[in-house]
Amino acid sequence: MEGEMPVGQAIAPGLEGVYFTKSHICKVDGVNGRLYYRGYSIETLAHNSTFEEVCYLILNGQLPNSEQLSRFDLELREERELPVQIVGMIKEMANKADAMDVLRSAVSSLPAYDNEAYDSSEGANMRKSARLIAKIASIVAAIGRFRSGGDYIRPDPEVGHAENLLHMLGVRDPDPRKVKLLDTMLILHAEHSSNASTFSTLVTGSTLADLYAAITSGIGTLKGPLHGGADEAALAMMREIGSPENTERYIEEALSGKRRIMGFGHRVYKTYDPRARIIRADLLAMQKDEAEEVRKLTAIALRAEKMMIERLGKTKGIWPNIDFFSGPVYTYIGIPIALFTPLFAVSRVPGWCAHMLEYWQSNRLLRPLEYYIGPLNLEYTRIGNRK
Ligand code: CMC
Repeated sequence: MEGEMPVGQAIAPGLEGVYFTKSHICKVDGVNGRLYYRGYSIETLAHNSTFEEVCYLILNGQLPNSEQLSRFDLELREERELPVQIVGMIKEMANKADAMDVLRSAVSSLPAYDNEAYDSSEGANMRKSARLIAKIASIVAAIGRFRSGGDYIRPDPEVGHAENLLHMLGVRDPDPRKVKLLDTMLILHAEHSSNASTFSTLVTGSTLADLYAAITSGIGTLKGPLHGGADEAALAMMREIGSPENTERYIEEALSGKRRIMGFGHRVYKTYDPRARIIRADLLAMQKDEAEEVRKLTAIALRAEKMMIERLGKTKGIWPNIDFFSGPVYTYIGIPIALFTPLFAVSRVPGWCAHMLEYWQSNRLLRPLEYYIGPLNLEYTRIGNRK
């Protein structure tokens, strides 16, 4: 029977407001709408850095000098190729399952091709982090190719991470503005403190399961529309709205039907998400000379944003988050909707790995409590005597 909680104990639904560890990696200031990786503001990194440099920063705690960056960059380039068996598995699954499921399955199979898979030394875990950053991008590109009926394209060791991703997706001589924008998107999604997928990565790793198992958990958690899947859902909504003049009616109907508008609201930010601000500015800068589809999506996004801020921003703290403007941006770059959430995973690997490595330094099994409120000591009735 439901009883009183023990004195001093309380339930925190969704673990909201609960601190479970200390970290040096990321500060999310949800009141002022600020975000820092290892002390550097997200604006500084988005405008000055590259994804490779940000990965190094997140994993090592400081910006690399040129030699350190060249070595790390080379390591990533050398780790891009996928085992043929993994390519075959992706080909087999790509059109039968959701892209996130294919990604999760491929990542969970990687230990079979890694001699260091079960080496839990810090050096091996650092090398596996670089391996995962490189290979997850190749896996996502391969999923994209097979889903569109193409063949696997081998990585190009001559180009950077973002450009190689476009190369492996089959984009020839990509527009440098699109490469830069993809690189910015990777930076903006690279890390975000103890969000749901990072937490589930840590839950798995805290049992002393290996890094591949932990990252596989993170990918599974990222899939849902309340987390990484929101970008796909937001673009699907914009497409459903169809044309800018339908926007207000659509939002009005959705809100009166108590439906959530994907790409709005955040557990920590109760103001404008600083990452969304950066993407929004990039979108406005580029959409002027873009195809009709991007201009239309941008117009819908801006009208929806205005209405949501008036209706829910100032009253309930529901503001645009990073996922709201991602759809039009990825559409501009030429990335299909099914790859949006997998791309989020491509970006988030350094964050997941850095948190896992940090947590292992003073590991404690993550094992919260739930308060049982059901009956006790029920009488057992044999199956033949049950109604
Ligand atoms: N549209 C309409 N109403 C909303 C929304 C939304 N997107 N988000 C929250 N609300 C309302 C909610 O209905 C509730 O209203 P009431 O108090 O009347 O019941 C109130 O705001 C508080 O909502 P909550 O669910 O208690 O807030 P939360 O902190 O648990 O939710 C959230 C955070 C992200 C799950 C939620 O805002 C949401 O579902 N957003 C849509 C999905 C989304 O965009 N997710 C991406 C998050 S950012 C990327 C990432 O890190 O994953």
